[in-house]
Amino acid sequence: MEKFYVTTPIYYPSDNLHIGHTYTTVAADVLKKFKEKQGYDAYFLTGTDEHGQKIQEAANNNGQEPKEYVDEIVASIKELWKTLEIDYDKFVRTTDDSHTEIVQKIFMKLYEKDEIYKGKYEGHYCVPCESFWAESQLEEGMCPDCGRPVEWQEEESYFFRLSNYTDRILKLYEDNPNFLQPESRKREMINNFLKDGLDDLSVTRSNFDWGIKVPFDEEHVIYVWIDALSSYITGLGYDTENDELFQKYWPAGVHLVGKEIVRFHTIIWPALLMALDMELPEQVFAHGWILFEDDKMSKSKGNIIYPEPIIELFGIDSFKYFLMREFSFGHDGSFSKRKFLERLNSDLANDLGNLVSRTTAMVDQYNDSIVVEGKKAGEFDEDLKSLAIGVAEKVEAAMDKLSFSDALEEIWKLIRRTNKYIDETSPWVLVKEDKDRLDTVLYNLIESLRVISVLIDPFIGKTSKEIRLQIGLGEESNWEDAKEWGLMEVGTQVNRGEAIFPRLDIDKELEKLSEANDRLIEERAKGQGEEDMKDLITIDEFDKMDLRVAEILSCENHPNADKLYVFQVKIGEEERQIVSGIKEWYKPEDLVGKKVVVITNLAPIKLRGEESNGMILAAEDDEENLTLLSVLEDIKSGSTIS
Ligand code: MSP
Repeated sequence: MEKFYVTTPIYYPSDNLHIGHTYTTVAADVLKKFKEKQGYDAYFLTGTDEHGQKIQEAANNNGQEPKEYVDEIVASIKELWKTLEIDYDKFVRTTDDSHTEIVQKIFMKLYEKDEIYKGKYEGHYCVPCESFWAESQLEEGMCPDCGRPVEWQEEESYFFRLSNYTDRILKLYEDNPNFLQPESRKREMINNFLKDGLDDLSVTRSNFDWGIKVPFDEEHVIYVWIDALSSYITGLGYDTENDELFQKYWPAGVHLVGKEIVRFHTIIWPALLMALDMELPEQVFAHGWILFEDDKMSKSKGNIIYPEPIIELFGIDSFKYFLMREFSFGHDGSFSKRKFLERLNSDLANDLGNLVSRTTAMVDQYNDSIVVEGKKAGEFDEDLKSLAIGVAEKVEAAMDKLSFSDALEEIWKLIRRTNKYIDETSPWVLVKEDKDRLDTVLYNLIESLRVISVLIDPFIGKTSKEIRLQIGLGEESNWEDAKEWGLMEVGTQVNRGEAIFPRLDIDKELEKLSEANDRLIEERAKGQGEEDMKDLITIDEFDKMDLRVAEILSCENHPNADKLYVFQVKIGEEERQIVSGIKEWYKPEDLVGKKVVVITNLAPIKLRGEESNGMILAAEDDEENLTLLSVLEDIKSGSTIS
């Protein structure tokens, strides 16, 4: 049996996921189900990307250990996937021991092959994006991806020889036009990154420790993107004794990713795999963003749409159908609650729901709920039949291009054609005038519903099963049956049921949905408020800090670090050494003799080999202006600050 391996990115456990986040996962789930229908042995991997400075800081702000912090969020992400009935096969957590061990082995292998070497890093780092940027890549001094301020970071680091791979990546794109889709993303990668040649990539950090340690140098943790990308193979047991899944499913059929993380997946990831002499994924497909009225969804803008209220009010299938139908997979699209409700009414209630109700009601009323053999063919039959049995192939062609929306449109053409067939044949007239013809029409309608139930199964499986129950079939369907006509057995009992998608009063439902979403936003913000309370400290906690006035006796350049000074300061009778990174703002002669504020009871640390015993306090604004704290009037060094 042919294999197909599909992945979503592994998610940052940073927040309550909104509908945009669910997009990649819903698409991967539909694709897996579709491939299975086509007879593939499909495997679907997702997970969580739990390391890095951002997570460590978020946990600190929450007064939690990072692991405790991520455990709670990961549980809520898994809960959401359960609510959405996402049928993943593997959920990798980058904090899993099994993942950690394999990532360390990968790093070791690359080091031994001299693909990784030790050097020194200086650059602009964006903490939220966990990315380094060159000066020339910044946009008005800000991160070009998210527009937030970057910070200068300078550290000893290990580097991956990415610069050796520029030509091989270009050749990869050239030889495999499908490797990166859509085409526009390929041009972006070439123009923005490959054209001028790649730089080596810093692949370790030493300014925080929430990550996987470099096995032979524990001062360093492995860069989160190396850690995260590896999950696609660690989750299959790569380089372990139990590597059957890896042997079976690698290379991936497709990595589905959002457009903002294409660089990592189509430059860094293939280069790493090349360095490991491994096979490359067949495709990376970048989808667009779901925006809210043309703007990015964000908590601070208050324009988040959560999936839970939608699912609670209108069911999983309505939600999945809308995501897959409304947006074109490679492009951005705008979400609107009204558009969602309008589509529910037009496509699901009017087109599909109505067809099911009308057909089952007529079979119930005119033929005692039994599928009867048709004896009289007539006009429109051939047209309906030939359209119906040709849809599966059109859906396959659309799905080969990951055009979920086009695939659904093809199915809906059949649904609308079948509704038209009812109007064209007028069974309510035939019941009085031509019973043989009526039986044929009813048979064709049920038969078309059978084909439709097969076609929609990978996209909206619950609805498919419901329709099959109503037309007297078993829940499970076989894809190839959608390509044949006449499979419905005469004598089958139809079970007319409730309307599968009742028609909605849009204004009323809009109000309900908005209310439910606003309530959830409020609830989650309140939860956050309570979390924020944890950040407040008591006066006793404040008293633990020993803040003093100190006089600067001397200020020397640090022997091993360009940006640091080594100070000798006097605090009352005591003299001590403090290392501080304020060289960019002050010359030594501006500082010697000045009185500043220091915190004296910080645990001493060594900064690049020099002991630092305390910290000189400074104020810094978001434009990187910095000034040291001092006292208004002269006062003795050693004076306490409270
Ligand atoms: N942790 C990285 C991926 C590492 S993979 C080796 C990451 N995580 S994420 O949580 O930020 O994003 C997960 C997925 O959600 C991405 O595919 C991202 O594009 C998608 N989306 C998040 N917001 C989105 C929208 N508003 N619209 C569509 N998808 C977006 O990136």
